[in-house]
Amino acid sequence: MMDYNKMFGGDKDLSAILVIFGGTGDLTHRKLMPALYNMLLDGLVPEHFRVVSIGRRDKTEEEYKKEIHASVAKYSRNKVDESIWSKLNDMITYYRFDFREYDGYSMLKEYLEDIDKRAETKGNRIYYMAVAPEYFKTIVHGLHMANMAKTEGSWSRLVIEKPFGKDLNTASQLNHKLLEVFEEKDIYRIDHYLGKEMIQNIMVLRFSNSIFESIWNNKFIDNIQISLTEKLGVGTRGGYYENSGAMRDMIQNHIMQILSLVAMEPPVNLKTDSIRTEKLKVIEAIEDISPEFLRENVVFGQYGKGVIDGNPVVGYREEINVPEDSGTETFVALKLYINNFRWAGTPFYIRTGKRLGTYGAEIVIQFKDLPNILYFKDSNIQEPNLLVIRIQPNVGVFFQFNTKDFNSHHGIVPTKMDTSHVNPTQGNTPEAYERLIYDILRGDSTLFSRWDEVEAAWTIADKIIRYREQSNVKFPNYDAGSMGPIKAFELLAKEGRKWWNI
Ligand SMILES: NC(=O)c1ccc[n+]([C@@H]2O[C@H](COP(=O)([O-])OP(=O)(O)OC[C@H]3O[C@@H](n4cnc5c(N)ncnc54)[C@H](OP(=O)(O)O)[C@@H]3O)[C@@H](O)[C@H]2O)c1
Repeated sequence: MMDYNKMFGGDKDLSAILVIFGGTGDLTHRKLMPALYNMLLDGLVPEHFRVVSIGRRDKTEEEYKKEIHASVAKYSRNKVDESIWSKLNDMITYYRFDFREYDGYSMLKEYLEDIDKRAETKGNRIYYMAVAPEYFKTIVHGLHMANMAKTEGSWSRLVIEKPFGKDLNTASQLNHKLLEVFEEKDIYRIDHYLGKEMIQNIMVLRFSNSIFESIWNNKFIDNIQISLTEKLGVGTRGGYYENSGAMRDMIQNHIMQILSLVAMEPPVNLKTDSIRTEKLKVIEAIEDISPEFLRENVVFGQYGKGVIDGNPVVGYREEINVPEDSGTETFVALKLYINNFRWAGTPFYIRTGKRLGTYGAEIVIQFKDLPNILYFKDSNIQEPNLLVIRIQPNVGVFFQFNTKDFNSHHGIVPTKMDTSHVNPTQGNTPEAYERLIYDILRGDSTLFSRWDEVEAAWTIADKIIRYREQSNVKFPNYDAGSMGPIKAFELLAKEGRKWWNI
């Protein structure tokens, strides 16, 4: 059993009410409630804790809880133990409320204060925005009007789901509104990738192993690849995806966060702001990406029909709620440089897309070749040293190095060391949301994005999105089930490199 209190040395009073705006929605059913159930199972839910789920749907509390029970049974990584469920069942209430009606907030406030008295939740609040982004400002305004954001002697935290804005301008406007009501330290911008165990392990691997950290730079590393690939298409979320595309859905947030963890300097300590400041410097050091640079270094794609796991699937333009002439990208491959002493000259290749031949998230660090003087002079082909950090579905580390081939006199073969295991059936590691909700309770915002990080990432993403809008790429340009457009392969091949699919 994972005991974060022991791990992080906290025995703080974590009493609180978690108020979920969007308590009847998909995120709550698939992620938040299963996470709470597993936290309870692992002893991570404080004694004085309640969940108030807000939705508009007409249902009794019993009906609501029955639906949540079914979702927990379906999506939890652990089998449901009814005695644990009954504890969660007792903590939840369903509250019907249209959050666009500002008059209703004072009643909600009284309702929560009443729970404080019965459950000793001490006035502490977590307001979780599990709603469509166009409502974030509306709810924050409602909380402000009813004086619910700041209370004497207790804390209030605001949790914002992605997407945080549609571009730099809308993100800044949203942020401005949030800061009128909440302090930066109380705003938790979710990037659920940061809750994944292996993402946190990037820092541990780098900063607790002398063999890695001493060669983690442009002198020893040839290139770094970050691939987040999906077999899934957009499914029923075509309407959402049309306004997003791969740039906003994956690159501006998850990939920028991964990139900054892979490339950051060691922080001076493990405090939240020390880490976030080093991450920010990476994004700020990305070489200016002008249209001229992008012309040679970015590839956009959109899937056509094809075959995934033996089953025929439709192209993006045939998906529900997608126009038949859609110009939205479902794939991006990109080369970036980080212009600082550690990384100048080392290419970072990024690749993400839907309806690709593989599902996974991994970081490949390819080390530089040795001079071909000794073993590789005549016959043997030198395979590079590769360190692969696997994020999903496998979790772990893979390392490739050369050894003698004991079956021949002169041969050299790459040996593969693999510590990966399949998540969750073998390792059953905690889901990202378990860790994130626990950190919100503890008031630790290390695994959440600070505003200046979001701002820097949008500054980069905006330039690339603008370039895509102006360039006339002919879509669709890759078959579902392939690994993306031919040009994405050429991006590396023209420099004598290739994408690694380990
Ligand atoms: N689903 C995911 O896996 C996922 C993953 C990452 C991020 N997100 C983000 O999480 C947020 C929620 O996504 P979702 O997929 O859960 O959305 P969803 O299934 O459409 O749920 C929306 C929720 O908002 C509630 N709602 C809408 N208007 C309301 C109103 N006027 N008053 C009260 N409640 C109202 C709905 O309640 P009623 O239906 O009862 O009215 C429902 O509970 C979005 O920002 C999304 O981008 C979701």
